[in-house]
Amino acid sequence: MKTGKPIIIALLAIAGLFFASLSATAAGIVPPLPGINAPDTQPKGCVDCHIKTASRDFRLTVVLASIKGGHPDVDKLVKNVPMDCLKCHYASQMAPVLGSMVHRNHYQNQKDNDFLINDRGSCLSCHTVDTQSGKIGIKNAPANW
Ligand code: HEC
Ligand code: HEC
Ligand code: HEC
Repeated sequence: MKTGKPIIIALLAIAGLFFASLSATAAGIVPPLPGINAPDTQPKGCVDCHIKTASRDFRLTVVLASIKGGHPDVDKLVKNVPMDCLKCHYASQMAPVLGSMVHRNHYQNQKDNDFLINDRGSCLSCHTVDTQSGKIGIKNAPANW
């Protein structure tokens, strides 16, 4: 068989291309996961995004003050965000449960939602995953007011 070698080489080359394209596709599909396969640009969670800039004061105290019907003053009550919000936002309270409320705040009105459009909408903006234990956590940081 004189032609055997070139055919095997050609087959190997085709297989090589196939696997190279497979891994390239995989690399293209995996989204950046902050703190897992990409740098975490919001390690403090809420207070990394809800900040005061030259154009807008988006700190949570200001956001809450603009709620229709009002919101209790939390400037002194909330020292760590968002864990101190749990002082009122838990199951047996008058206020909505924190997790579901915050999920709704960030995932509703998809067509006009800055969190989805500009911030990629990642769970890992607010959550952490300990890749050793597998435990999910919540980023918590001192208030910025
Ligand atoms: C990656 C940036 C980012 C992080 C982290 C983040 N937010 Fe937000 N948040 C946004 C953006 C952007 C919006 C506006 C969404 C929209 O356009 O509807 C928003 C909206 C909200 C709203 C509703 C404001 C309104 O006017 O309706 C509340 C309340 C809120 N965030 C609280 C929190 C809390 C509490 C945390 C932490 C657990 C948090 N956010 C973490 C970016 C962020
Ligand atoms: C002193 C208690 C208290 C604390 C602390 C508190 N809240 Fe509230 N919050 C309330 C109550 C009560 C309501 C319900 C108001 C109503 O229904 O009129 C509410 C309503 C809200 C709403 C509007 C309801 C909704 O479904 O979107 C948002 C958003 C909110 N709180 C966010 C926060 C965040 C974020 C924190 C922490 C920074 C926080 N709250 C801390 C008592 C509290
Ligand atoms: C803007 C911040 C934010 C984002 C984004 C976010 N979470 Fe949460 N999540 C919270 C907060 C705050 C809690 C309440 C923590 C507590 O009560 O101890 C929570 C709680 C949870 C819980 C516990 C059950 C509950 O509802 O309280 C689960 C499960 C969860 N999140 C999953 C997710 C998943 C999946 C995503 C992405 C699709 C996501 N979260 C995105 C802030 C966020």
